[in-house]
Amino acid sequence: MRFLAPVFAAALVLVLSACNAQIPGQESERMGIAPLLTSEQAFDDQTFAQPQVARVTHVDLDLAMDFDAKTIGGTATLDVLAADDATEIVLDSNGLQIASIADEAGNALEYEMGEMEEGKGAPLTVQLPATKLERPADLPEGELANTHRIVVTYTSAPDAEALQWLSPEQTAGGEHPFVFSQGQAINNRTWIPTQDSPGIRQTWEATVTAPEPLNIVMSGVVEGDPEAAGEGRRAFTFVMDKPVPPYLIAIAAGNIEFAELGPRSGVWAEPEVLEAAAEEVGDTEEMIDAGEKLFGEYRWGRYDMIVLPPAFPYGGMENPVMTFLTPTFIAGDRSNNGLIAHELAHSWSGNLTTYSSWRDGWLNEGVTSYIESRITEEVYGKARAEQEYALSYASLAEGIEQAGADNPNTAMRTPDEISPFDTQGVAIYDKGTVFLKTVENIVGREKFDAWLTSWFDRHAFQPVTSEMMLADMRENLVQGDEELEERLMLDEWVYGTGLPENAWKPSAEAFAAVDSAAAAYAADGTLPGADAWSKWTAAEQRRFLEELPEELTAEQLAALDSTLGLSKTGNNEVLFLWLEAALRNEYQPAVPQAEAFLGRVGRNKFVAPLFAALNGTDWGKPIAQRIYADTRGGYHAYTRSNVDAMLGYEGEAEAAES
Ligand code: BES
Ligand code: ZN
Repeated sequence: MRFLAPVFAAALVLVLSACNAQIPGQESERMGIAPLLTSEQAFDDQTFAQPQVARVTHVDLDLAMDFDAKTIGGTATLDVLAADDATEIVLDSNGLQIASIADEAGNALEYEMGEMEEGKGAPLTVQLPATKLERPADLPEGELANTHRIVVTYTSAPDAEALQWLSPEQTAGGEHPFVFSQGQAINNRTWIPTQDSPGIRQTWEATVTAPEPLNIVMSGVVEGDPEAAGEGRRAFTFVMDKPVPPYLIAIAAGNIEFAELGPRSGVWAEPEVLEAAAEEVGDTEEMIDAGEKLFGEYRWGRYDMIVLPPAFPYGGMENPVMTFLTPTFIAGDRSNNGLIAHELAHSWSGNLTTYSSWRDGWLNEGVTSYIESRITEEVYGKARAEQEYALSYASLAEGIEQAGADNPNTAMRTPDEISPFDTQGVAIYDKGTVFLKTVENIVGREKFDAWLTSWFDRHAFQPVTSEMMLADMRENLVQGDEELEERLMLDEWVYGTGLPENAWKPSAEAFAAVDSAAAAYAADGTLPGADAWSKWTAAEQRRFLEELPEELTAEQLAALDSTLGLSKTGNNEVLFLWLEAALRNEYQPAVPQAEAFLGRVGRNKFVAPLFAALNGTDWGKPIAQRIYADTRGGYHAYTRSNVDAMLGYEGEAEAAES
């Protein structure tokens, strides 16, 4: 066994891990080492790692934040499991400044930074130490043979994509700086030297210092109170004792405070937004209970959230035990809380059971959007869940119509021939939701729920693939029933393009009232009354705005705004749809508000389409350029890259930087 070539050893691991599905010692302090899939199953062309030869199983960070230099630096101590004949390990790095790499005793190890590839970074190849650590007693037989420990001393680059450093002006308080990370998809290699692939799960711990009075949160459980670290700094310690994909290691620091919500949940935010934030997420405990009732135990202990400044480029990010949120979901009436249900749902789909390849995006996002809908139904009732499902279905149908039903970007599993990040958002999120709703309705809810719960049990803390999900459905749901197999159309859903004909349609009741109002408006310009509008749910208002005719005159837009009070809405989803309709129709009175919104909010989902709306007309093009020149510096690298591409900003961006 000791002399097996790495690839054979890896195949053996797979066999062993398959019968080892229940990871032993789940209650123990640090969970056992996560199994690896074969290289074929876990195919990830976005990593340089060769996990079948040597892989990281634990990361121990000891770091300091430098807000002036905009860097995080210190040491990363990596536990490595290596094949008997392995002499080196390959890590992912993107812009890391490496000072030294050594073994535990401080003996220097040779290393080499390979050639940089745009977006992907460079391989950091490190010679393994001659000394091996004692093999852990609980290591399954057939696992890679040797354990090593290496210590990387390094600093992140000031323009690290994972980190956004905010000036005090970009915060609610206006007095202290703020920083947050966004690891997904392949950004964490810009601040952590490890193997950055979702199939290579790692436990981790971290001690990080920041200047007072800033507090630090991470996607791990905090240990003890912060400790004085000299020079007006404090050290915070965190532990994640469950193996997670490394994109889920996350950090944020700022002048933030905590509000408890219930026995296992709470929310962090700047003091200026904390009360509104805590009020908005007041249904969180109920949501966790709903998730557990539906799909099994919540296995992460606490569920806390942090509401970040509005520059955060996403709606939310499911960092374990610490969901990161945009403040733009706060509406005062909990109407955008599908976002909370969604990020919480990732505690099952994504964080517990994770795609091993970026090509299986739907296994995280589609399954999560489905669970989001189920949690919404439990907590807010069937009517709201059906409306939100109808919105998903409509955006899927529209997305497919725009792309074309045979467009490879509409397949749920990203085809090999396109980039792993090029699948349409709707094909991952909405098509995934509609697929699972379809299966649920064909096999019946009771059977479906039992199966999905058992899927998470069978693959808890493990990487999965589309093939594994389909095989599992066939084994445990279809069970050889040929007629059922035919009705489900499983392969067509996952690998095919377009919308399969068995798709579960939303109830026609869901939007009956609002759709007839939209039809009346389109036919002869009859507006819904202000009273009716104000009684509509946020989903109904969104539906109406999404159904508006593409082209509207200035008079029509003025009447819409004055009757429905669109520009004064407290719901940013509604405001966004209004601004988009106004800008694409060259409506000058909306420009100042759009400009203020774009100057404050960095959420890509809002920012990119608003610039696209402006950029679509000769009238709007110069306005887009003028606004963007002002707001670009406040956007996260992700939002910036999208808008740069759209506005042809590349040359100017480089000129500005040099
Ligand atoms: N995990 C995603 C965000 C993400 C996906 C970041 C892929 C980077 C790469 C998160 O859970 C998400 O889906 N956020 C949505 C929320 C929405 C669907 C409710 C968002 O930010 O809009
Ligand atoms: Zn998600």
